Amino acid sequence: MKAIQVGLIGIGTVGTGTFNVLQRNQEEIQRRAGRGIAITMVADLDTARAQALVGNSAQVVGDARAIIANPEIDIVVELIGGYGIAKQLVMEAIEAGKHVVTANKALLAVHGTEIFAAAHRKGVMVMFEAAVAGGIPIIKALREGLTANRIQWLAGIINGTTNFILSEMRDKGLDFDVVLKEAQRLGYAEADPTFDIEGVDAAHKATIMSAIAFGIPVQFDKAHVEGITKLGAQDIKYAEQLGYRIKLLGIAKRREKTATTPGGVELRVHPSLVPAKRLLANVEGAMNAVVVQGDAVGTTLYYGKGAGSEPTASAVVADLVDIARLVDASAQQRVPYLAFQPDAMSDLHVLPMSDVVTSYYLRLRVADEPGVLAKVTGIMAGMGISIDAVLQREGDEVVGANDAPQTDLIILTHDTREGTMNEAMAALQALPTVLAPIVRIRKEELA
Ligand code: HSE
Repeated sequence: MKAIQVGLIGIGTVGTGTFNVLQRNQEEIQRRAGRGIAITMVADLDTARAQALVGNSAQVVGDARAIIANPEIDIVVELIGGYGIAKQLVMEAIEAGKHVVTANKALLAVHGTEIFAAAHRKGVMVMFEAAVAGGIPIIKALREGLTANRIQWLAGIINGTTNFILSEMRDKGLDFDVVLKEAQRLGYAEADPTFDIEGVDAAHKATIMSAIAFGIPVQFDKAHVEGITKLGAQDIKYAEQLGYRIKLLGIAKRREKTATTPGGVELRVHPSLVPAKRLLANVEGAMNAVVVQGDAVGTTLYYGKGAGSEPTASAVVADLVDIARLVDASAQQRVPYLAFQPDAMSDLHVLPMSDVVTSYYLRLRVADEPGVLAKVTGIMAGMGISIDAVLQREGDEVVGANDAPQTDLIILTHDTREGTMNEAMAALQALPTVLAPIVRIRKEELA
């Protein structure tokens, strides 16, 4: 059978990896796919560099639309990223009847609904394993391997840059700014790391996973997004003393309706205390991992490299193989884009952050004088917040000009509605004995 023809748009890190993996493993890949997979066209702005990479094996063009216009091309692989030109090219490729493989999580998290609808109309596949957690086949696991399950929740370390920074902060007791500079010097963090450190990249990935886990549309605009820029070494140290590590988690959780809280989906990215004994808490450096809890299977864990040339290429090539196998199947015989049939999506809504229920770590810098602890716990009790543990430690630095004794009060709570916690924090902050802004970090037991 004739090899399936692939046009690659963008031959940077992942594109180069894709080209190399396909070449190196072509014999095994062909035995799996049932036919060859050949990159026959490559589009890149730097045509000379692209030509040097691919040699005579593919036609190199500067204009990606030449790939889309070529009737011989079956699959377009989009590896340029972003929402602008990438969206136009993906939509044009779909309109031209091409199947699409993309690693572009931002594009799918924000414009996925439009893209999948267009692909459905045209009867083409859009595959995106590389968009979430690089080489870890988490999309395949959620969409196919766990298809028997009602997924209850998933939580993942899905951004390597921030996990590297947090690991370094904990290992070396350093603050965020210092570690970020070092990470940039070593090439672990981008020159502009905003999307990573502010949690946006993780939220794109969590949004895509939430859609597949619960059969809801991608709704990045409803995700709560908080990064790691405000974390201090002190809180990492206190968390450690309490038996926790701090990780940036992407969380998607089904919340059943109760007498006091509405039902829906929690979709959130923020630093979280995780019990140190959990496997997820021990995922270090730039590695990624996702825990998925299904009602039948129980807890499952997926671990691996979330970025890099060949790990991400591994996911891209897996999608190419899937398309090669399914290209002659009817649309009904293929796996739906978001795991659920397009006409069977759920209207389960994404909960506002105020309706999220979780437990908390609070750190209050307080005046060290009689009655302070009683006042603090009194306010919390008055709002129905149950305390799990309290720790008092002398803080590293004195705050304010006053040399009266002061101390750090660290409080762990049981599950509380976020809206209630916001009210409690406002009341606590108003106490004259609370001397600095309260630090609040959410806590996930992941049990
Ligand atoms: N910038 C991402 C990370 C890799 O640091 O994990 C690609 O998603």
